Parts: sequence; structure tokens; C-alpha cells
Amino acid sequence: MDASTSRYRDVYARWQRDPEGFWREAAADIDWFEKPVETFDPDAGIYGRWFSGGVCNTCYNAIDRHVAKGRGQQAALIYDSPVTNTKQTFTYGRLLSEVQLLGAMLRDFGVGKGDRVILYMPMVPEAVFAMLACARIGAIHSVVFGGFAAKELATRINDATPKVILSASCGLEGARVIPYEPLLDEAIKLAGHKPETCLILQRPQCEAQLTPGRDHDWRKTWEHAVNYAKTSECVPVLATDPLYILYTSGTTGIPKGVVRDNGGHMVALKWSMQYLYGVNPGEVWWSGSDVGWVVGHSYIVYAPLFHGCTTVLYEGKPVGTPDAGAFWRVCADHGVVSLFTAPTAFRAIRKEDPDAKLLKQYDLSKFRALFLAGERADPPTIQWAEEHLKVPVLDHWWQTETGWCIAGNPLGLGALPVKYGSACVPMPGYAIDIVDEANKVQPVNKIGSIVVKLPLPPGNFPTLWQQDERFQESYLAEFPGYYKTADAGYKDADGYIYVMSRTDDIINVAGHRLSTGGMEEVLASHQDVAECAVLGIKDELKGEVPCGFIVLKAGVNRPHDVIEKEIVALVRDKIGPVAAFKLAITVARLPKTRSGKILRGTIKKIADGDAWTMPATIDDPAILDEIGAAMKTHGVGS
Ligand code: COA
Ligand code: AMP
Repeated sequence: MDASTSRYRDVYARWQRDPEGFWREAAADIDWFEKPVETFDPDAGIYGRWFSGGVCNTCYNAIDRHVAKGRGQQAALIYDSPVTNTKQTFTYGRLLSEVQLLGAMLRDFGVGKGDRVILYMPMVPEAVFAMLACARIGAIHSVVFGGFAAKELATRINDATPKVILSASCGLEGARVIPYEPLLDEAIKLAGHKPETCLILQRPQCEAQLTPGRDHDWRKTWEHAVNYAKTSECVPVLATDPLYILYTSGTTGIPKGVVRDNGGHMVALKWSMQYLYGVNPGEVWWSGSDVGWVVGHSYIVYAPLFHGCTTVLYEGKPVGTPDAGAFWRVCADHGVVSLFTAPTAFRAIRKEDPDAKLLKQYDLSKFRALFLAGERADPPTIQWAEEHLKVPVLDHWWQTETGWCIAGNPLGLGALPVKYGSACVPMPGYAIDIVDEANKVQPVNKIGSIVVKLPLPPGNFPTLWQQDERFQESYLAEFPGYYKTADAGYKDADGYIYVMSRTDDIINVAGHRLSTGGMEEVLASHQDVAECAVLGIKDELKGEVPCGFIVLKAGVNRPHDVIEKEIVALVRDKIGPVAAFKLAITVARLPKTRSGKILRGTIKKIADGDAWTMPATIDDPAILDEIGAAMKTHGVGS
């Protein structure tokens, strides 16, 4: 890795000189039904739109064009599921016929261009077929992660108002079977909007009781479609039409519907496969994430297929399915050249197999690079992976909103030297500044809010689903001329970006983004709770885990441990197991400033065992001792 041999600086400078020319050239790698009228239209949308007037189809670029160009026999998708003991390969040709069929099935249910379809599915091939089938017929998919509870699903149903929901009878979490149908039924009961149809994939581990009139059996519907030789064609859509909505945590309990369009998404993702990840068409790529997250959307499904790669869909965990060698086994079995996952997965592997003994059982000769994202890659994890894998281990930073990397180490252009703790350098398309509260650009090495100059590059979200105002307020209002990432950090003299923390109440648990504000809403809804605060505290495995502090209403004299258990159960029930909320601590009072603001930062420092000083504005210093003592009884803090 040598800065002098990397093409990065030249390529980034080329983009700076002529952003539109840069993306116009990248757009030549996409098959358009009609070429864009303008590469960038500054007057369209909120901050301008990419590839205005272009007519295209995302599914065509992911599948059809590869079949047309002779990749029909090449593996497109490898389903590897240790939890069901299954390995299955789908060629591009087979993927095409599955997606054509499912597209036809959706059309028969009345789904057309612009209609929304919710997917609440485990990591099975049908989830990938479904995303692509929606893209094929111009429908807008919205995938909801399986670890969310019924209420969260209901919120998304109300916002996206889907015509159809695609689901499965169950998910498999290691050895546990999680029935989905009760969650789906409850969500539809809670939601004001009622979808007309649900298509349910029955899995043998737990068959669902189908609701007559509403539910249809996926396989029977498929057989019917096969028998009648049904098919569907790629529907031309505008580059600026939405491809999908993906909900992500905002600062309240109401999630944000991040919209992705078709044209910019294809151009940016295709570019990233070659130049950021350094992967070639025909090679095997694996993103160890879930289709419910943005990483899964972009790098399990879309980008590798746009690029003509083989993508691995892994239904399992880094440990326990069956052991900490699972990731090496998948890489060896399928000849994976690059893996993209979250640091937490590697912390889990390292914890179980600190000397990476299991790695020695597998042939990883094809393996070239490990990419980490979703949370800051802690240096010990990177060093451990480097030591054992003996390949570049590259952190990169991005968000659901951006859809692809903001800052990373572009292996495809020649990797730059790794600096531990840094996500590396801005990708073309992103002009990153560090600013203070007055929007003044900060000098090198000074921490501040990380912002991106408008316009955002192709692939980034143009707005929030039917919430242009919330988009403006949340992202554009605070720092005029910029997109607010809500991450804080700094830039060093070489232009490397260091992402240190969020500036809002979002926490990152095992690479999953969660709102503590949303959790506080749930805690506050408990009958006995007068006041509460939720914050993320350090966790060796998951990076951070939520911890709730509750003050009980006067007169409540039920045992604290009983109430705390109820609170834990309530969060699981209202938000879902993914929140990993396992710790509620009853305290007599919460520490506040004299103006009444809860001193979350100080509580967090005490819980994390970090050095802290008494805030000058504190109302009553004795409260911090009380909190410290309460934490100790729960095994938290030093
Ligand atoms: N459906 C239902 N439940 C789910 C689920 C799903 N799709 N995904 C997770 N859950 C449940 C888990 O079973 C767990 O439940 P529990 O509290 O009853 O044990 C809970 O949600 C928390 O899940 P998670 O945070 O993933 O913890 P874990 O202990 O199961 O696994 C890791 C820990 C580190 C192995 C796991 O988080 C991992 O592999 N992370 C990779 C990161 C990743 O995929 N990031 C996405 C962005 S790149
Ligand atoms: P999500 O939208 O779920 O992808 O989460 C995005 C958030 O995760 C970012 O705003 C960061 O806070 C955090 N994040 C993701 N990748 C990184 C990284 N490489 N380094 C530091 N933080 C990261």
C-alpha cells in the first residue's frame, strides 16, 4: 500500500475538476433504455437530481444484460445456509427465470409501477428474487429487518402503504426458530393501512397458519405461475424514480424512509465494485450482512449483480453456526475474493477463537481483502484480522442515507496506507468538511461535525419518503450548503477522515443503528416510570449496548427488579430483539443541569469507566454518586 502508486489522488482530482463529466463517464457502464437528458439537473428535486430524463431498469442491469452478454451459465447467487444445511447455486439464467416468474406473480396480485411492496423476510434466495422482481416491474420495495417487532413493522406498513407484503413462515436465529406469521398478523392488526395480499413462503422448520383471503402460499402461487408459463418484462422507469424505501432510525421513534432512486444508484454502485472494492466481473464476492440493512441492499444484492459477480447469501452467524470457523468455511467453499462485514462479527470470531486456529483448516488462497463498515473499526480488531488473514483490512464509512461509501480505501485504484482508526479518504462525489456549530470549516485534526458539500453524489438519497420537509430539517437546515452526516470527527493533514461518534441520539449496536430516543419513548410508556434516559454504553462484543435509567413514579413500591424485567420485555416487544436492550437500572433521580438537561455524557463516562469531571452546571453533584452506586449493583461501570 503506497500512496505514490495509488491512482486515487488523480481520480479524486478528476472528479473535483469536472463532477458531471466524471459521473457521465461512469454512467456509460450502465445499460439505459434512453440516455439521461442531463447528467445533473440542479433545478430538480431538493438539491438537484442525477441522470434526469434517463430511462432504465435496475433489474435489467442486474440480470438480463448479463444473460444477453453470455453470463447465463455463470453463478449469480450462492445461498449458503448452515442453519438449514443448504447450499444452492443460482446461475444468472436461473435467477432471470425466478425473477421473471415472481414479477408475474406480483403483477397478478395487482402490483404495478410505483406501488410499494414490503418484504419481511429471512436470508433466503426468495428475498433476493423479491427485491429484483419489484425492480423489474417498477414497484418500490421496502425490506424490513426480521429482528424488528410487530409495532416497528406496523409503523413501516403505515408509512409505505404497501399493496402486498412478502414474508416467510419463520426465520432461523442459530438453533432458534422465530415464527414470523404472528408478528406479521400483529403488525397488520396494529397498522391503519391494510395490505390486500400477503405471499408467505412456508419453511419446513415452522409452517404458518395462513389467513384465508389475505395470505397466499408462495410455492403454490409459484407452481401456478410456472404451469401457465407466466413471465414479466423489465418496465422502463425514470432514473429518478424510486427503486426502494429503506427505513432507518431517526431521533424519534418514527423511522425515516430513505428513498433510493434507480439511475444514480446503479451508476455509483457499479463504479464502487471496480474502483473501491477492486473486484472483477465473474469473481465471488460476499457481504456478511442482512438484506434488511443498507449493506445488504447495496452489497449482497445490487452492486455485485450490476458488476456481473457471484454474490453469496449467508444465512448464519459468524459464531455458533456451527463455530467460529464459519466465515473461513464460506470463503473457502465458494472461492470468495473479498468479504465485507461489520467489525462486531470479527470481534465475535476473535473472542471464540483468539488464535484463529480454525482458519488453518481452510484454503483462503483466493481471498484478497476484508472490508469493514457499520461502526468504527477498532484498531485491535483490524490488527487481529491483518495478522491472521494476511490481506488488506480496510475500514470504510457510510450510512443508510448515502447507500454507498463516503470515505474508504479504494483498493481498485491502488490501496492507500492504512491508518488505524481512520475510515480513509473521501470517495469521488464527496467533498467532506469538518465544521463547528457556526458552520465554520475547522482546521486539520480539529474535531467537529462531519458534513458533505451539496449536491450529494449519485446513489445518495434524494429525499425521505413523502417527507421532503423532514429531509430538509433533518439533514440540510443546520449547516447551509451541506448534508449533515450527524457524525463527528476530524480530518488529518493527509485528508484521512476519522469518524468518532454520532452527534445525535443514535447508537450503534453490533453494527445496527438504533435510536435511544425511540427506546426512551418505550420506557416512558411503562405505567410506573416517571422519567428515563437511555444511552449506549461500551460493550466488548457489540461495540455499544443500550442501558436504560428509570426513575419511578412516587408511590410505586413494587420490587425494582420486577419492574426492570418488565421494561426489558417491553422494549423487546415494541422495538424487537435487535435493540439488544437487556439492562434497565432504577435510580432515585437523574443528574441534570440547572436548566433541566439530563447529563447523558457524564452518565456514559461513569458507565464506560472513562475519566470524567463534575459538570459545572450540575444541579446536585450527589446524584452522580447515587447513579454510580446503582450501576455497580447491576455490574456496570468501574
Ligand atoms: N430475526 C429475528 N431476530 C433477530 C434477527 C432476525 N433477522 N437478527 C437478530 N435477531 C435477534 C438475535 O437473535 C438476538 O436475540 P436475543 O436477544 O434473543 O439473543 C438479538 O436480535 C440481537 O441480535 P444481534 O445484535 O445480532 O446479536 P447476536 O448475539 O445474535 O449476534 C453478532 C451478535 C455479533 C454475531 C451479530 O450481531 C453479527 O453477526 N453481526 C454482524 C453485523 C451485521 O450484520 N451488521 C449489519 C451492517 S454491516
Ligand atoms: P447505518 O445507516 O445503519 O449504515 O449506520 C450509519 C452510521 O454507522 C454512521 O452514521 C456512523 O455513525 C456509523 N458508521 C458506519 N460505518 C462506520 C465506520 N466505518 N466508522 C465509524 N462509524 C461508522
